[in-house]
Amino acid sequence: MPTQLVDKYGRIHDYLRISVTDRCNLRCVYCMPEEGMTFEPDHRILRYEEITEVVKALAPLGVRKLRITGGEPLVRKGLDRLIAMLSAIPGIEDIALSTNGIYLAAFAPALKEAGLTRVNISLDSLVPERYARITGGGDVSKVLKGLQASRLAGFHPIKLNVVLMKGVNDDEVESFLRMTLEQPIHIRFIEYMPVGYEGAGWKAGYMPLTHVLETCERLGLPYTATREVYGNGPAESYRLEGAAGTFGLIHPVSDHFCGSCNRLRLTADGNIKPCLYWADEYQVRKHIGDPAAIAALFMKALDAKPETHEMARALSGERMSHAPTLRRMSQIGG
Ligand code: 5AD
Ligand code: SF4
Repeated sequence: MPTQLVDKYGRIHDYLRISVTDRCNLRCVYCMPEEGMTFEPDHRILRYEEITEVVKALAPLGVRKLRITGGEPLVRKGLDRLIAMLSAIPGIEDIALSTNGIYLAAFAPALKEAGLTRVNISLDSLVPERYARITGGGDVSKVLKGLQASRLAGFHPIKLNVVLMKGVNDDEVESFLRMTLEQPIHIRFIEYMPVGYEGAGWKAGYMPLTHVLETCERLGLPYTATREVYGNGPAESYRLEGAAGTFGLIHPVSDHFCGSCNRLRLTADGNIKPCLYWADEYQVRKHIGDPAAIAALFMKALDAKPETHEMARALSGERMSHAPTLRRMSQIGG
């Protein structure tokens, strides 16, 4: 029986991202097409009890941090019940949620009460019409209410995920940066990734994040690097002078951080994904009820975990060493 989830490159895995549904109340352009999506039928989705069993099998192997993702996790009923079950597992220290924020105003207090420790909210535009266009009809005012409700409920830090896309929201960097002046939030600018057969649309929208620091310089906004942001992520973080909040740059494509990857993923239909980008998957459901077999399957998945994701090759059109996943982002959970 292994005692830690270490792969052949020596990376220790203490972080599991759990997608609880492949459904969503929005249709973000980079994540889920407006049409043609087929969703998993309910009977293929892991029940909360099954997810809890998987985590119970992994906690003794050093998994301490969880992130609940989707689709949109808050479209699944009674998510606070799952959070309460997971937070009761000995060894689990941190449970974060990635959400689009639309339903957060309603659920933030119950989630906090259940033991959720942190929230990340996806918010790619502050301009209402544009937000609606990017998300297939979302109402940005609901997200902003969800953000305030999360602050009131006492979540800290609260992170906003902004996927930067050329010609779509690259002119809003300043508005997002200015949000950090007043609010104690952390804004993460994320490079647009070619996950799940993103075609030519991805290349046209991709832009490197050097744009963010250039914007600070152009506007004469002084900033310093900071290490104080708490979390699991590979972000490089900064604070504008005098700001209440911070911002970070996450550049998975141009400068990948696979070398320090500590994460494993579990899809809503029970597949372990050792890497976000590649197609390899290991179905865990048949092992529910047998913690040693669950642990062994995770070890097997780790064994197949590649050293890096090679996304940058998609930019230059080079050949890949593995097969990229055919899942959409909504079926992986980021
Ligand atoms: N590239 C970068 N980020 C993405 N996300 C979803 N799809 C992509 C993509 N192709 C982000 C979402 C969310 C997080 C879970 O992942 O905006 O904030
Ligand atoms: Fe839904 Fe999030 Fe995907 Fe947007 S990015 S469609 S909010 S799961």
